[in-house]
Amino acid sequence: MSSVPPVYISAYAKINLTLAVLGRREDGYHRLASVMQTISLSDTLRIGVGGGDRFTCDVAELSAPDNLVARAAALLRAETGRPDLTAEIELHKEIPAQGGLGGGSSDAATALVALDTLWGLGLGMERLEQLAGRLGSDTPYLVRGGTALIGGRGEVVTPLPDAEPLWIVLVRPSVAVSTAKVFGALAPMDYRDATDTEAVVAAIRSGETLSFDHMTNSLERGVLEQYPEVRRARDSLFDLGAPFVRMSGSGPSLFSPYRALDDAARLARRAREQGFEVWLCHTTTQRQVRASRP
Ligand code: C5P
Repeated sequence: MSSVPPVYISAYAKINLTLAVLGRREDGYHRLASVMQTISLSDTLRIGVGGGDRFTCDVAELSAPDNLVARAAALLRAETGRPDLTAEIELHKEIPAQGGLGGGSSDAATALVALDTLWGLGLGMERLEQLAGRLGSDTPYLVRGGTALIGGRGEVVTPLPDAEPLWIVLVRPSVAVSTAKVFGALAPMDYRDATDTEAVVAAIRSGETLSFDHMTNSLERGVLEQYPEVRRARDSLFDLGAPFVRMSGSGPSLFSPYRALDDAARLARRAREQGFEVWLCHTTTQRQVRASRP
């Protein structure tokens, strides 16, 4: 393969518009019903093929061979029996790691899709979604992104029409939260049925505006209880005028959805003044996710 110029590709973060934990499985994972949505906050992958083989990341701790991006490349080589395939990959992080925003999963899913094209493998989206399931629970969804209903432990992905476009104010409380611990600390009261998720799905399917009241997250109560920093950040956002605040995934990131930019920008500014790490971003469609890829 001759060397071609490297390409820059965006790997988008996700938020959970709903996250219902329905029950615990025999294998220790949990059964989920969740509506996931990609947002404009993104990492950047720079991939060149046909030259050397190297992976680096601008966050030193993530610049290791066990990074999900390097593992995605290795998985494709193993699956296709092509140990000769090489790629020089640089990863620039913007999405906070371990934030409940699917950053690492999105990097891996994006690498799978991009390398499938750049290496000319032609595996296709369905096969890539299956392979993605071996790299994490959120990864299959992030192969396509946009708006989707998620079932199983994360691997059952049903694409939905684009949800109502929204401005999203994201705030990351400065505390590390372990996903496994958060799932492990679920109390009986945290399990719920899929009613809220179904209501959000119905609104999306009929092109209606979203009712934020249905945007619930089974994991939020436990995190607010165990991590005072997250509760404090949530309380501050309400004090600063946010009408609605929800945790994304297993946290600790919090998001506040807005229809009016003025209101979103005001909250973002005030939260920054309080010293919080804040991003003002917006929902992104599957089409936008696709557009940044080779
Ligand atoms: O699959 P992933 O590595 O992203 O999951 C991290 C941890 O979160 C798992 O080890 C498991 O403890 C928990 N988890 C779960 N049920 C899910 C997804 C994740 O219990 N559906």
